[in-house]
Amino acid sequence: MCGIVGIIGKDNAADILVQGLEKLEYRGYDSAGIFVAGANDQHYLVKSQGRIADLQARITPEVNGTVGIGHTRWATHGKPSERNAHPHTSSNQRFTLVHNGVIENFEEIKQEFLQNKQLEGETDTEIAVHLVEYFSDNGLATKAAFKKALTIIKGSYAFALIDRNDPETIYVAKNKSPLLIGLGDGFNVICSDAMAMLSQTNHFVEIADGEMVTVKANEIAIEDEKGNAVYRESYEAQLNLSDIEKGTYPYYMLKEIDEQPSVMRRIIQAYTTATGDTQIDEEILNQIIASDRIYIIACGTSYNAGWVGKAILEQMTNIPVEVHLSSEFGYNMPLLSAKPFFIFLSQSGETADSRQVLVQLNEMGLPSLTLTNVAGSTLSREADYTLLLHAGPEIAVASTKAYTAQIAVLAVLAKAIGDQKANPKSLNFDIAHELSVGAAIMETIIDEKMLISQLVEQYLTDSRNAFYIGRGVDYFVAMEASLKLKEISYIQAEGFAAGELKHGTIALVEEGTPVFGIITDQKTAAHTRGNLKEVESRGAHNFVISLESLAKETDQLIIPDVHPLLTPLVSIVPTQLIAYFATLQRGYDVDKPRNLAKSVTVE
Ligand code: F6R
Repeated sequence: MCGIVGIIGKDNAADILVQGLEKLEYRGYDSAGIFVAGANDQHYLVKSQGRIADLQARITPEVNGTVGIGHTRWATHGKPSERNAHPHTSSNQRFTLVHNGVIENFEEIKQEFLQNKQLEGETDTEIAVHLVEYFSDNGLATKAAFKKALTIIKGSYAFALIDRNDPETIYVAKNKSPLLIGLGDGFNVICSDAMAMLSQTNHFVEIADGEMVTVKANEIAIEDEKGNAVYRESYEAQLNLSDIEKGTYPYYMLKEIDEQPSVMRRIIQAYTTATGDTQIDEEILNQIIASDRIYIIACGTSYNAGWVGKAILEQMTNIPVEVHLSSEFGYNMPLLSAKPFFIFLSQSGETADSRQVLVQLNEMGLPSLTLTNVAGSTLSREADYTLLLHAGPEIAVASTKAYTAQIAVLAVLAKAIGDQKANPKSLNFDIAHELSVGAAIMETIIDEKMLISQLVEQYLTDSRNAFYIGRGVDYFVAMEASLKLKEISYIQAEGFAAGELKHGTIALVEEGTPVFGIITDQKTAAHTRGNLKEVESRGAHNFVISLESLAKETDQLIIPDVHPLLTPLVSIVPTQLIAYFATLQRGYDVDKPRNLAKSVTVE
């Protein structure tokens, strides 16, 4: 949610900022802006509503300099507009600031300190830059004024501040929102995500919550809340520039759907040995085995993956598993078991809803593991243990390969625990082999793109709503399939337990309503087919996705059989493609759906 960049010490600051913002556009894309300080005391502030391309169109050749900050916004306070776009400037124009996060006490700050200030927009951020000016007007030097403001501001933030009187420094601070400093030769950069500045450097320094950093072209100085100097080693980002490019694909989402078979193979390589044994840190396994209940905490697609994970974990480990929405769990914590173990699922590792739960659990001294795609992300750093998803950067807002990677890594974890507990079901499960079979089946489905695109034309062209139904894990896949469809094509889609439809929601089925049935479980296949008949006789246009061994000739998409524990890995793939083609047909931006952002760093 919102992305910030900054650079100091390079001639073409404006270009570098814009290129960085393009890479951060997944974090928000309703407005953007840059501030650049050039030679001879020249300053440029350019803002625009809309995408980075709209901003770029406004940047004229003279906009340049050696220091600057930039921002791409996902609106929280104040609607998307040029007025509300960052950077924001103080009344005397001396201070310019960008912010990612939410200032919770901005109304109070306004009342207490800024009653005489004329604020231009409706954002919480504007309060921060005016507060720095307030303390500066009261005699504090810039760094002290910034630090003083930080002691008053409550909430989440990554800030970058420039003082026009001293454009040799960028002041940054962080609390709960991500922020990295990138180290260059004679220059330094700041960014919300290493991806943004990978073209400049691959050496980054993490900043902890509560720290403030003075960034100059040749040095950085980190201070903790008490003003003590902090020294932290840099790390090398394990990312290639090519991983974050679209290549020949029209959209990242299609690239990421296609990458799923290779992600499965990477997971096999990372977590199993040549002889097919699992390799996961013994300490993680022992902690989980010692627990009496696993709690999976996640949001959105990761939450949907959590339900599939529950099914696999319970069967392989005999440990009960609960799945919770982070945004609910944190504020309505259920009664916990005596020895709980927590698993956080988060592609980005930055989701604020999940983080607030982890902070509470850490205070309670409870053990946790994060499964994430981003090494060094907040949820990874703050949990006791991490397992990486190895999915490679996921850039399309709609998550695809991270979902299947989460399921695959949870399956390996379940197998590792099950083996330690000598559970026969686990001992007989050759995870490396079954995942590679799954990967091959994914490939055959991906090869059917043309067929899926044609079916989408028949089933979804004019629909305003649709249902996905299934039972057991097919229901969990239905939840994810419907989320995918609605978030990018804007077709109102619901994922429903097939048997539950007749208890009310079937009232919404009318002539031509598309109902997608997912059938991969022998136990429930006949019942789901019965439920499909019920909706068909009320006018529904049924579309059945089934496993070969359970298929009927009339089914629209038949997928090869896979191990019963891993069916979601393959049954989700056609639904991802259905969402993709439905969106293309409607002419919407597949990768950047309206109102959304990739990394949700506000609660
Ligand atoms: C939907 C989607 C979101 C995320 C959710 C959690 O396609 O991507 O629902 O799954 O915002 O994000 P992470 O997994 O980064 O915690």
